[in-house]
Amino acid sequence: MSDATQVLPAVHDELPPPPPSAAPSRPEAVVQPGRLEAEAVSAWFGQRKVLDRVSIDLPAGQVTALIGPSGCGKSTFLRILNRMHELVPGAALAGEVRLDGEDIYDPERRLTDARRAIGMVFQKPNPFPAMSIQDNVLAGLSLVGSKLKRSERQDLVEESLTRAGLWVEVRDRLRQPGSALSGGQQQRLCIARSLAVRPRVLLMDEPCSALDPTSTRVVEETIREIGSQVTIVIVTHNMQQAARVSDRCAFFLAAHGAPGVIVEQGPTDVIFDNPQDSRTADYVNGRFG
Ligand SMILES: Nc1ncnc2c1ncn2[C@@H]1O[C@H](COP(=O)(O)OP(=O)(O)O)[C@@H](O)[C@H]1O
Ligand SMILES: [Mg+2]
Repeated sequence: MSDATQVLPAVHDELPPPPPSAAPSRPEAVVQPGRLEAEAVSAWFGQRKVLDRVSIDLPAGQVTALIGPSGCGKSTFLRILNRMHELVPGAALAGEVRLDGEDIYDPERRLTDARRAIGMVFQKPNPFPAMSIQDNVLAGLSLVGSKLKRSERQDLVEESLTRAGLWVEVRDRLRQPGSALSGGQQQRLCIARSLAVRPRVLLMDEPCSALDPTSTRVVEETIREIGSQVTIVIVTHNMQQAARVSDRCAFFLAAHGAPGVIVEQGPTDVIFDNPQDSRTADYVNGRFG
């Protein structure tokens, strides 16, 4: 965090009670979706400010779409939500991000706690190509230090692939390499890999932009199916997709040379049918960007 963080007053008035303390080393059977709140988040790359005081509430068990033209800071914002931004050399940030009321940047908290609770699926499907399908699903567990018995691993593979909508297609070839799958299947495998860690929030950065329309629709169905069990934040360039999958939308925009801001946010039907800001109306109707 940059020094600017320190000057922002923390808001502790209306926070819900903290969740039960630290998860054990094994994923729990039931994990509730988490509520994420970003408050006055700003971001810099070197001297250049790319986000200015972005505040948003990402309600538990809902799908929120981040929309807006290229370069307005959507991916940067997503990386801030699970502490990946701080890995970029020269990157700084200010503001606060809370998961169920707890500051994920609290120096007392470990980085792996945030990563475990807040998963990420990237634009390009990135399974480990030589690793088997089942080992891909389990690959995130070792990173968070979880050790499971063989039968528990098998159950978790089936459960995660089922939740990701891929089980029926791969159940007979779990030992084949991840690279044997189609692009859309690979992306669902990556979703299964994220779900196996039992995150409370799943961040998705244009998860369908490398997929054909049929695979896109299958991934969208997957998002709708898991969206009530895990809070989802999805960046998408595709307005139809935002309208199909999201409960809420936030419209990001960066004026020429200025950092990105949220122009408008709210329920998806309001953003599409009755936006308050003319720039939102222009964007969702395809008049720019
Ligand atoms: N690693 C980086 N180093 C320097 N500038 C970056 C880096 N990543 C992104 N930027 C800049 O930050 C701004 C926001 O980028 P990004 O978050 O990727 O926007 P979006 O996802 O909305 O297209 C852009 O101007 C981009 O060039
Ligand atoms: Mg991006």
